[in-house]
Amino acid sequence: MSPTTAIAVPRLARAQGSIRVPGDKSISHRYAMLAALAEGTSHLEGYLPGADCAATLACLEGFGVRITRRPGDYGLSLAIEGRGPGGFEAPSQPLDAANSGTSMRLLAGLAAGHPFRTVLTGDASLSRRPMRRVVEPLTRMGAAIEAPGGHAPLTIDGAALHAIAHTPEVPSAQVKSAVLLAGLHAAGRTIVHEPAPTRDHTERALEAFGARVEREGRSIAIEGGQRLSAIDALVPGDISSAVFWLALAAGTPGSSLTIRGVGLNPSRTGVLDILRRAGAVIEAAVERGAAGEPIGTLHVRFGDVRPFEVLPSEVPGVIDEIPALAALAAMSEGGAMTVRGAGELRVKESDRITMLARGFRAMGVAVEEFADGFHVAGGPPSGGEADAAGDHRLAMAFAIAATRAHAPVLINGADAVAVSYPGFFEELHRFAAR
Ligand code: S3P
Repeated sequence: MSPTTAIAVPRLARAQGSIRVPGDKSISHRYAMLAALAEGTSHLEGYLPGADCAATLACLEGFGVRITRRPGDYGLSLAIEGRGPGGFEAPSQPLDAANSGTSMRLLAGLAAGHPFRTVLTGDASLSRRPMRRVVEPLTRMGAAIEAPGGHAPLTIDGAALHAIAHTPEVPSAQVKSAVLLAGLHAAGRTIVHEPAPTRDHTERALEAFGARVEREGRSIAIEGGQRLSAIDALVPGDISSAVFWLALAAGTPGSSLTIRGVGLNPSRTGVLDILRRAGAVIEAAVERGAAGEPIGTLHVRFGDVRPFEVLPSEVPGVIDEIPALAALAAMSEGGAMTVRGAGELRVKESDRITMLARGFRAMGVAVEEFADGFHVAGGPPSGGEADAAGDHRLAMAFAIAATRAHAPVLINGADAVAVSYPGFFEELHRFAAR
């Protein structure tokens, strides 16, 4: 698709059936990176075939890691030949993290512990996003990093690192993970004290690959110099992708939907509580675990949508789900959503406060913008044209709300969904055809 692809959203009578969603983006990145550091060859199933996770693989190849990709049943099937701790080769050219903050920040943590120069670049959006939050702790550990104005490109001269204690200024799983991954290559015990709990996939993945991670309350510690062993693992479906279908079914009368094989890590399921408060009927059942990650099934049914709030204390646990929650409010008569304490939304793939407000308003939904959040009035949308602003989650949020619009809605830049959910619009059209 061209970068300006516009898609007309089908109106939907109801959402029914049983589906799967592509692999978890956060877990895909982590398994690939740890597999690259491990001893032996790891086999990963269900790896997310999206652009962000492809960027991580390309960067790892730039470090000399050999990766074989095959189409698999639930996404990509990968074989990754690990290079062992500290075993990366100096990249011969800049590594491109594209649109992916997770790639850039976590790989910065790995590059910091390898004694050569790595240059990490990104697209226009990623080059606007704050990088001081990783540059500062990694510099304190001993790396030399240039980041003009606190932004990409990052020029990292890796070194023999030493452990630090770090308290990130904002709750961020990416910052925590960058420091822990650098800590794996540092002398001593690195510890991160989180200001609020964030997704713990790095901790779980490190343990699955055989490292010891000590966790106590909001503190996570890792001893440097540990070796990792290759694993075979299945990447669970991404709850942050599933949530768009949860919102669709919750906001469409007569809907009943089953989503199988979804990751149900408790650090990611906060959104289910909020959806229930909004009126959705949701059951979640964990069925098994893979590499330390719980996997299960979600059932969702329509419920009368009512106004709901996302509390500041809930924000770190649902930061990626806020656009989908806003879609539920915007598509529903009697819905409304307020979120505060979410200033971090302004430094995501787009300024997700301003661009979300702009997109919903363009569809005829009233939105009030705050410095640290927004209020979305109920819907349904009247119709119109919304711009995804290069942001995959906004493209999907606008599309979900648009399925209830009175008149057609066109989403400009709809191809942005390829970052985390390449088949999103095909799935939406299948629902419409059923
Ligand atoms: C992610 C952490 C979150 C999230 C992002 C993925 C991760 O970012 O928004 O989509 O995989 O660690 P922050 O760490 O910036 O909060």
